[in-house]
Formats: sequence, structure tokens, C-alpha cells
Amino acid sequence: MTVDLRSDTLTKPTPSMREAMARAEVGDDVYGEDPTVRALEERLADLFGHEAALFTPTGSMANVLAVGSLVAPGQEVLCESSAHIARAELGAHAAVGGLTMRTWTDPRGQVDLTAIAAMFAPDMGPFFVRTAAISVENTHNFAGGAVLPLADLRDLRELAVGAGARVHLDGARLWNAHVATGTPLADYGAAADVVTVCLSKGLGAPVGSLLAGSAEAMAQARVRRKRLGGGMRQVGILAAAGLHALDHHVERLADDHAHARLLAEACGVDPASVDTNIVVVQRPDAPAYVAAAEAEGVRIAMVGPTAVRLVTHLDVTRADAERAATVLARL
Ligand SMILES: Cc1ncc(COP(=O)(O)O)c(C=O)c1O
Repeated sequence: MTVDLRSDTLTKPTPSMREAMARAEVGDDVYGEDPTVRALEERLADLFGHEAALFTPTGSMANVLAVGSLVAPGQEVLCESSAHIARAELGAHAAVGGLTMRTWTDPRGQVDLTAIAAMFAPDMGPFFVRTAAISVENTHNFAGGAVLPLADLRDLRELAVGAGARVHLDGARLWNAHVATGTPLADYGAAADVVTVCLSKGLGAPVGSLLAGSAEAMAQARVRRKRLGGGMRQVGILAAAGLHALDHHVERLADDHAHARLLAEACGVDPASVDTNIVVVQRPDAPAYVAAAEAEGVRIAMVGPTAVRLVTHLDVTRADAERAATVLARL
């Protein structure tokens, strides 16, 4: 059997998750009548200390709605240059939200307050694009699952409040940061105006993301979600998978983190540099390396011309991780 380390989105729903989905009470969610979706949204809002939350089919849609709730067309959002919103959402924020982006660069995707302060553009009427929000990603996907320390997020929030801007936190893998550091989810929630989370990555649900923020922002996002074609009907079946994942798959992320450190060591990457479940290996021979691993039953992915990514997840057991480590150490 191949050990598939390309992404933590590859997980399949477990038998007990499927049972929870089959049992879900449902209604028409566009009418606001799906009790399971409502339970999930309320639970998420509570976890992050926000007034409301909104279920979306994907993290990309959640991010578009979240950033769009803070930044109007013709305004800008600042983010790190390898942020998912900048690199991997296929220009949706510009194409749909009509906004522009400027970026700072940090190899570990961290908050660079000096760069942000230097780039920040207040409202200068007809002369410059106004910075309306700053977006950060925790954990940072393309920076190898790096955690953003809470103290930096608090400092960023303070800077934003002082400058009249707001903060978006792309927390597709915030669960991993929470488990790796023990930081309460509510503390992350308090450091941002809108938080996005995914249930379909480390938590193993087949589909589903949410954004959480003020009741007013979520009500507007609900309208914009429908406009994008994201108004779903008896979607409690999917929300039930998310609730099951929250109950059963959060604490176990610590296993994924341990497996990632094991793989890092096998690939010559310092395990201490691996904060969570993602390992990025620099290989000048990346395509050949990926092919050789595949031939030995270990599937990994290129994320740049010389960068290869390994991601541990719910469907990678300790034995799988050990087998992959043996293969990769040999290569
Ligand atoms: C950090 C981050 N944000 C957002 C997303 C988007 O999620 P989706 O694939 O559900 O659109 C991803 C996907 O991998 C991600 O890694």
C-alpha cells in the first residue's frame, strides 16, 4: 500500500464519521433550517469567542468571504508573499473581491511588524490604495506548517487597531497550532476580526470550512456566499462530519506532528524546525526524488522547482510513517 504524504486533504471519512453523517438531522440551510449546521456554526463561534460563524464548502470560499468582509473593492490587504490567499486561491480575491494585495516575505511565514508598518497605507483619499486589512496564516502551509506565536498575533492586532485596519486569520490548520502550542482557540480568536478554519484538512472531514466573526459580518457573508453559489441545502450531513471531527480528531493531531518530525529526520531536515504536520525538503533533483519515492510506495509532492512537501494526517499510521521514513532516508 502506498503511503500518501502529498496533503492532509486526502483523508477519507472514518466509519464512525460516516455513521454520524448518516444520523444527521437536516433541513434547508438556505432557509437557516438545518439544525446540524446551526449547531456547528454556534460551536465554532463559541470556540473562537466570536458572535457568529458561517459554514462554507471550501477554505478558499471562506477566505474570500472573510477577507471580503474586511476589505472593500479598490482597497488592499497585506499578507506574507507565500500565503495561501496570495499563491493558491487563483486570484479569487482580485477577481471576485476587487481588492489588491501587497506582500512582505518571511521564509517561515511569520508576522513582520516592521515590514507591515512600513507598507501600511492609511486612507489618503484619491492618492493611494488604502490598507483595510492584514491577513496572516497559522499554521503557514507553504512555510512548512510553521506556527505563528500568539504574542506576534497580539502585536499585529494592536498595530492594526491603532492604524484603523483589521485582521484576518487564515486558520485552515489553526487546530495544529493549537495542539502544538497549547494556545487556547479563544486567544487566537481574540487576535483577529475574522477567523477562517478548515475541517477537511487535519481534522479529516470530507468537506467543510467556516469563518467566524461579528454577527453583522457573518450576515453579510451569508448573502455573499449565496451569490457565489455556496448556498447549500440539507448540508447537515457534512456539518455532522465536522462536529464528529471536532469531538474526535483534534487532540490526535499531536500524533501527526510526531510523525512529521520522524520524517524530517529521515530527510535530513532538523526536526526542531518542524512545528506541526508539514515538512518541506529542499532537493535540487526534486522531480527525480518524487519519482523514486513513488516507485517505492511513498507519494510526495513538489511545491516548487526544488521544494518537496510531506504532510502527515489521519490516514497515516505510525507504521506508515516509519515505512516512509525508511524509504526516504535511503533516497
Ligand atoms: C492555509 C490554507 N488556507 C486555505 C486553504 C483552502 O482550502 P480549500 O482547499 O478547502 O479551498 C488551504 C488549502 O490547502 C490552505 O492550506
